[in-house]
Amino acid sequence: MTDPAWPRPRRGYWRYSALVTAILGALVLLVIELFRPSHQAPPDPAESLPGGSTTRAMGVQKTFLEPAANLSLERQLEFYSGGSLFRQAWLMAPSSTTLRDGLGPLFNARACSTCHVRGGGGRPPLTPQEPMVSLTLRLSIPGADPHLGVAPEPTYGDQLQILGTALTKKAGLSPGDDAPEGHGPVGEGFGEVAYKTRHGQYADGDAWELRVPRYSIRDLAYGPLHGDTLLSPRLAPALLGAGLLEAIPEEVVTEMADPEDMDGDGISGRVNRVWDRAQLQVVPGRFGWKASQPNLLQQAAAAFRNDIGITNTLYPSESCTAAQRSCRRARNGRGPGTPHEISDDLLASTTYFLRFLAIPGRRNAQGTEVLEGRHLFRQVGCAACHVPRHVTGELAGFPELSNQIIWPYTDLLLHDMGDGLADGRREFDARGREWRTPPLWGLGWGKRVTGHESYLHDGRARSLSEAILWHGGEAQAAQLVFLNLSRGERQALVAFLESL
Ligand code: HEC
Ligand code: HEC
Repeated sequence: MTDPAWPRPRRGYWRYSALVTAILGALVLLVIELFRPSHQAPPDPAESLPGGSTTRAMGVQKTFLEPAANLSLERQLEFYSGGSLFRQAWLMAPSSTTLRDGLGPLFNARACSTCHVRGGGGRPPLTPQEPMVSLTLRLSIPGADPHLGVAPEPTYGDQLQILGTALTKKAGLSPGDDAPEGHGPVGEGFGEVAYKTRHGQYADGDAWELRVPRYSIRDLAYGPLHGDTLLSPRLAPALLGAGLLEAIPEEVVTEMADPEDMDGDGISGRVNRVWDRAQLQVVPGRFGWKASQPNLLQQAAAAFRNDIGITNTLYPSESCTAAQRSCRRARNGRGPGTPHEISDDLLASTTYFLRFLAIPGRRNAQGTEVLEGRHLFRQVGCAACHVPRHVTGELAGFPELSNQIIWPYTDLLLHDMGDGLADGRREFDARGREWRTPPLWGLGWGKRVTGHESYLHDGRARSLSEAILWHGGEAQAAQLVFLNLSRGERQALVAFLESL
């Protein structure tokens, strides 16, 4: 099964686009040169503390799972107990401890930290044999459900769950629904990605290389996929500062939106409108690559159920479809008198942990090259979407996160990023070419925390330059200017990103 929405570039497109690139780029550079201020505006001193008073210097053990610097020792206790839920590996039911069982029956990983290693982002598999773990595949067919935002694939549901509690097909339990009574189901299939290389040149003659991914699924355990199935790959993002993003007031986000591009800058920016399962109403979305989750509680609840198979108050049923009988027959992890596999208290505790994840301090923020890159970031137009600075609102019960000046470099809005990045999937109001601007804080620390560099919604970009080169659609103008920068300027822009 391959993705039917695979975009095919038109013949001659790249040659044509190279010409347009050169002409437009030269024009834009001329304009920049004419308006370049004689000296660059000095950076705001607050910029070196991107998370305001939550900012904590990165320790020797590089991790994004440290508590906000302004969290009292008393409140750190709650933070750390949430942290243990984030790291804990769930067990198959029944087990001796009903607090920790309920894994699956279908799942992708046993713990949150399997995908968000040390709170950092995931990566695509390194070899064709390696299972896709921290890169998940969403499945859908045309249509929409107002509460799910998509129409899930009828047999497999909304996400390919690569594992089942039967754990191995070698146990003679394949295909999927032959599992004998008492055994769990087998995983749904094996996600694969293959890359084709695309080459090109910057205006100054330096070469670049991008890898174009193509996704498919083999070893489908429950029969064929629906003929119109759309695959949407999603990489586990880094989680730092999630509570501060949640604390940006709703009015600020809606005010930045410019759906009809009234100011004519070529950049629209739309709010996703998604279903809030606790309030039972439509609200702005904030989290996930398409901003389809409204808040951290619901995001955590969705992760428990979809990624680990732990049911909860917001997602009360196991992710077994009607067609997956062995999944529906499997034992669940609800204790006596408990309606779900994780209680509201423990779900809240996990959310508390996410909310107070610290932002690390910047590196080398005053370096000459970094300051030049900072200037270019604004000149080139990156800041139109990656909005540098926000002030958080007043959050009852969370003084640590309230009224903080923060530097996340996002507008939390959806932007058309062009065909190259499109997944063709509608998710609530988000369209097939739209993605939420990801925050850029902590970007330079990422590779030190995780040991790899994987950017964009599916980790296809192996460097920051590759990530920028993939920008199209509303970001095409900025990408064109980038292509026309000199090597030194490109290095300065990247140095700035790495300092965040
Ligand atoms: C199988 C891998 C996997 C596991 C396990 C997992 N996640 Fe995620 N996480 C993801 C992916 C993929 C996304 C992006 C989802 C999307 O864009 O739709 C994500 C997104 C998130 C986000 C939103 C971040 C943002 O800035 O938008 C949070 C918060 C989060 N996960 C928390 C958790 C918690 C808490 C757990 C454990 C209960 C967990 N995750 C388990 C893969 C995983
Ligand atoms: C029109 C809005 C827009 C503009 C302008 C823009 N970006 Fe982005 N940027 C995005 C979106 C949306 C994504 C996510 C795309 C995806 O994952 O497919 C992104 C992704 C990124 C990423 C990858 C982040 C990650 O965590 O994977 C980097 C780095 C980045 N942008 C830097 C820049 C720089 C530098 C510029 C200026 C040259 C720029 N962007 C201009 C919207 C924009």
